[in-house]
Amino acid sequence: MAETLIHPSDPGNLGWAVVFMEYPATLCPDEDMERHRDFRARDTSKTIELKENTIIVVLGASGDLAKKKTFPALYGLQRNRFLPRDIRIVGYARTKMDHEEYLKRVKSHIKTPSKEMEEQLEEFCKLCSYVSGQYDEDDSFKALNKHLEELENGRKQQNRVFYMALPPSVFITVSQHIKRNCYPKNGISRIVVEKPFGKDLGSSRELQKALEPDWKEEEIFRIDHYLGKEMVKNILILRFGNEFFGATWNRNHIDNVQISFKEPFGTEGRGGYFDEFGIVRDVMQNHLLQILTLLAMERPISFSPEDVRDEKVRVLRGIPNIEPKNVIIGQYGKSLDRSKPGYKEDDTVPKDSRCPTFCAMVAYIKNERWDGVPFILKAGKALNEQKTEIRIQFKDVTSGIFKDIPRNELVIRVQPNESVYIKMNSKLPGLSMQTVSTELDLTYRRRFSDLKIPEAYESLILDALKGDHSNFVRDDELDASWRIFSPLLHYLDSSTDIVPMEYPYGSRGPAVLDDFTSSYGYKFSDPTGYQWGSNPNPDATNKL
Ligand code: BG6
Repeated sequence: MAETLIHPSDPGNLGWAVVFMEYPATLCPDEDMERHRDFRARDTSKTIELKENTIIVVLGASGDLAKKKTFPALYGLQRNRFLPRDIRIVGYARTKMDHEEYLKRVKSHIKTPSKEMEEQLEEFCKLCSYVSGQYDEDDSFKALNKHLEELENGRKQQNRVFYMALPPSVFITVSQHIKRNCYPKNGISRIVVEKPFGKDLGSSRELQKALEPDWKEEEIFRIDHYLGKEMVKNILILRFGNEFFGATWNRNHIDNVQISFKEPFGTEGRGGYFDEFGIVRDVMQNHLLQILTLLAMERPISFSPEDVRDEKVRVLRGIPNIEPKNVIIGQYGKSLDRSKPGYKEDDTVPKDSRCPTFCAMVAYIKNERWDGVPFILKAGKALNEQKTEIRIQFKDVTSGIFKDIPRNELVIRVQPNESVYIKMNSKLPGLSMQTVSTELDLTYRRRFSDLKIPEAYESLILDALKGDHSNFVRDDELDASWRIFSPLLHYLDSSTDIVPMEYPYGSRGPAVLDDFTSSYGYKFSDPTGYQWGSNPNPDATNKL
């Protein structure tokens, strides 16, 4: 059966009747309010679709991100005919190389398992060209501009999307040079920027200030690639498109929420970058917090980018700063079989590094819906498996007729093996009245077996071309998210007596982890009983 790429649908078409309920934002420092008001004065809701005559300039084209993510995503979009007609893709980087060498790099991470895909890749390569130049010299950017003009061939309207696949150290200077030398006089210009957007609230504001004179908010697309993931995009539909979730989605029915990110590999090759940031800045302040925000926000008036982002900012403003007493940090050591190296064995990492490669923390939201419900965020490198998952644990059912009956739990598996399942209790078929834990299971690869889930970057690049900001981070949203984490980050950076707990490479994390999550109310299913997708173990059922 032919594979179809699920096209990100236009949520505006869904046309659901909505009731807008306003909850008080209990935590909104005046300064944040001011920034918020400032923002509303600007109009970022313009969604001009770039249909033709567009050039995408990939800055940092010889780097890892471009090779692993940007080019494969552009190829995927081109192959499925989602890119504008007459598109051109121009790479720019410092490395001097000829066209052949450049194409070799472009192709290096694109898989073409069939003859048809090989041919499509050759077609894609015909759209690509390369300019080498410095990141801090006007002459280099003038040469880039000349190349762009040649491609535009004297046409009146020049639409340019600048994709910054660049390290933060050159980000500002490049954006300034683009503005001076390559900003189209007549046409649409967009700049797509990758994290890290700063290291804390102060540096993020500085970055923002440096961008402001040159780029309007409506021209900036800050990527958090988790917002392009299918299951993350599904959160709003699951929540607001299903009445039974809507009714129970609050502190009266939900006991705790857990969002975990696990990777089975260490910082291999990225130790230098990682040590400066650590796991909190690398994935928690952005990817996990974005998931939390979508889970916790109120229903937006519409699915327009600004209505959605207004609600996201509102919920972020209701989260008090993370308190160190609600945090554990860890750093991986050698694997138990000694075959995998510890974090500090990476040559690019200082031998006395206190950088956390694991963190579990708890956030609270001070509003009427969530007050008192712990949101447990958990992220780690070099763990036992790859998994990003959301677990929403409902409260226990009233005791009385049941003895030790497990809780309902809604699990949203973001990756791998995208799925949504609800752990629920049912009668064990047979003559007795025994209960058994089982699940309502929506596993994508079974239910949607003929559909291909788009890569996050495919979905986001397409959104940037469409001018749709819904899945990009707004400036006040970024500000609000750094505010929540900055005091903790400063505390961890400056307190030399705080040393991360060591955990073996390939383990589940620091030994105290389960006690930590249990202390916030998370209840584990009996591992001998319930297992997602497996037949019930009759010995582990509950008798009435
Ligand atoms: C990046 C982090 O933002 O996300 C990496 O910098 C992490 O450290 C990556 O590995 C995870 O992305 P994904 O899409 O593989 O889950």
